[in-house]
Amino acid sequence: MIGAFHERFGPTQQPRVFRAPGRVNLIGEHTDYNLGFVLPVALNLATYIAAAPSADGKLRIYSEDRREQREFDASSLGSVEPTRQWTDYPVGVAQELVRAGMPVEGANLLIRSTVPDGSGLSSSAALEVSSALALLAGREFDPLELARLCQRAERNFVGMPCGIMDQYISVFGRAHSAVEIDCRSLGHRLVKLPDGITFIAVNTMVKHALSGSAYHDRVRECASAVEGIAAVYANVKSLRDVSPEQFEGVAARLPEVVARRARHVVTEDARVNRFVEASGQGDVAAMGKLMVESHRSLQHDYEVSCVELDFLVDAALAIDGVYGSRMTGGGFGGCTVTLLRAGAAEAFRARIAQAYHQQFGLTPRIYSCEPSEGAAEVKNYETIPALA
Ligand code: GLA
Repeated sequence: MIGAFHERFGPTQQPRVFRAPGRVNLIGEHTDYNLGFVLPVALNLATYIAAAPSADGKLRIYSEDRREQREFDASSLGSVEPTRQWTDYPVGVAQELVRAGMPVEGANLLIRSTVPDGSGLSSSAALEVSSALALLAGREFDPLELARLCQRAERNFVGMPCGIMDQYISVFGRAHSAVEIDCRSLGHRLVKLPDGITFIAVNTMVKHALSGSAYHDRVRECASAVEGIAAVYANVKSLRDVSPEQFEGVAARLPEVVARRARHVVTEDARVNRFVEASGQGDVAAMGKLMVESHRSLQHDYEVSCVELDFLVDAALAIDGVYGSRMTGGGFGGCTVTLLRAGAAEAFRARIAQAYHQQFGLTPRIYSCEPSEGAAEVKNYETIPALA
């Protein structure tokens, strides 16, 4: 990667390299913007940025994967408008850094990523967080503030009203652990997963056009559920404040669709806590069951699944050694995550790929979900993957 940087920007400068991972969410879907609980792991799929100051005050951003370069005057970044292209992520982050009192100087950035785009593994957060580190260029910044700043970039500049999960786990990921995030307090605890199991993500290779607008719709529907419930329980500020029992008592007062959306969120929060408990007890059967319940709730109540995801879940459940499976991320395509016996992984990969290909004529990409470290400067360049 250093060689590629020198080739593009000249051999005189020694860049620093920063890495930020993608994630897979084990359970707790569409709960983050309802201030509830999520349980993601950071992946060893990550975005890498080699960066060095530029001599002429320009911010140049080159994406190796897209073979595209964009150039901005660092001094007038504040007036750049969103273009709905990949550069919106680094530019949005740069604007938020300036707003946070961190001036952005001219720099050359070369980006390489192994997080597949549009796959529900959070390539956007990986790009945001790695951009923030590259633009900070070693200046100190509080990690939680960094995650929040990147979330603001996505909300304000990219225009996606996302929760905090993806940016948070990209910053706070930990090898060998899942991370339970409390999206209200913004604290977390590390969750050790039982031995002898593994998680595998399977990519549908599709992303349906609905995903963006449906996300906005769900955010609105949840807000409207809160309004309806707060008319009865004045202390309810978000769906996080509602227990499943309390919810059933007021469900009939809500419009039917809104009630189903809220039911998903309220029961999903409870499932995260039960999943963490089951994990602590090594009860993998219970963990798997909760994942399947989560998927059914996303499929029928929250309605963010699709035929490809449903097929992958059902096909996985028929394969030997599988404890549970569900869609992961925003939905409408992207990946499923499957919990299975470690020894069953190889056969699982072959069988699920074959089943999916037979059904849809597509070869799914498959990723092992080894929990990895959160974002940081890369000190050992030998860990940087080759260009795909
Ligand atoms: C996307 C968003 C996250 C979260 C998930 C659904 O990945 O970026 O904030 O809402 O969808 O759980």
